[in-house]
Amino acid sequence: MMVQLSSLDFKPKPIDRDFLSKPDEFPVNGEHVGHAVRAQGTQRPDMDGAPYPTKLGIHGTEVGVDWDCCIADGACLDVCPTQVYEWALNPGQIGTGNDHKIEKDSDEWNTYRTDKTDMIREKDCIYCMACETVCPVQAIKITPP
Ligand code: F3S
Ligand code: ZN
Repeated sequence: MMVQLSSLDFKPKPIDRDFLSKPDEFPVNGEHVGHAVRAQGTQRPDMDGAPYPTKLGIHGTEVGVDWDCCIADGACLDVCPTQVYEWALNPGQIGTGNDHKIEKDSDEWNTYRTDKTDMIREKDCIYCMACETVCPVQAIKITPP
């Protein structure tokens, strides 16, 4: 089940499609299960210009997902033909509805708000663009090498 936008205290903003060419704004400052993380810990604005409640940054390079924008819709995991993605907080699980559910005001809520899709097999991406196209909040930018 998709996380209802009304249950969130932020408005997801589409990923900056040029994040790879903006190293000042999106420096690589982390690593997560083999892929780069950019702008982790940075306060960024949501769609309304209000500060995002999370500071997770963008995971991945060729397969880039803005984790502050991702609301655990799950469609990206459903459509990927090479199973690039897994749920970050529910390891080994893919698919809509299999995201780890987070209790409001818990530590997980403070850090993540919702589960996030994670490109644990980024190198298996065949650049079909299915995930980028299907994400309802445009959290994904695929950049072929
Ligand atoms: Fe997140 Fe969009 Fe996938 S909201 S789980 S990146 S379809
Ligand atoms: Zn990651």
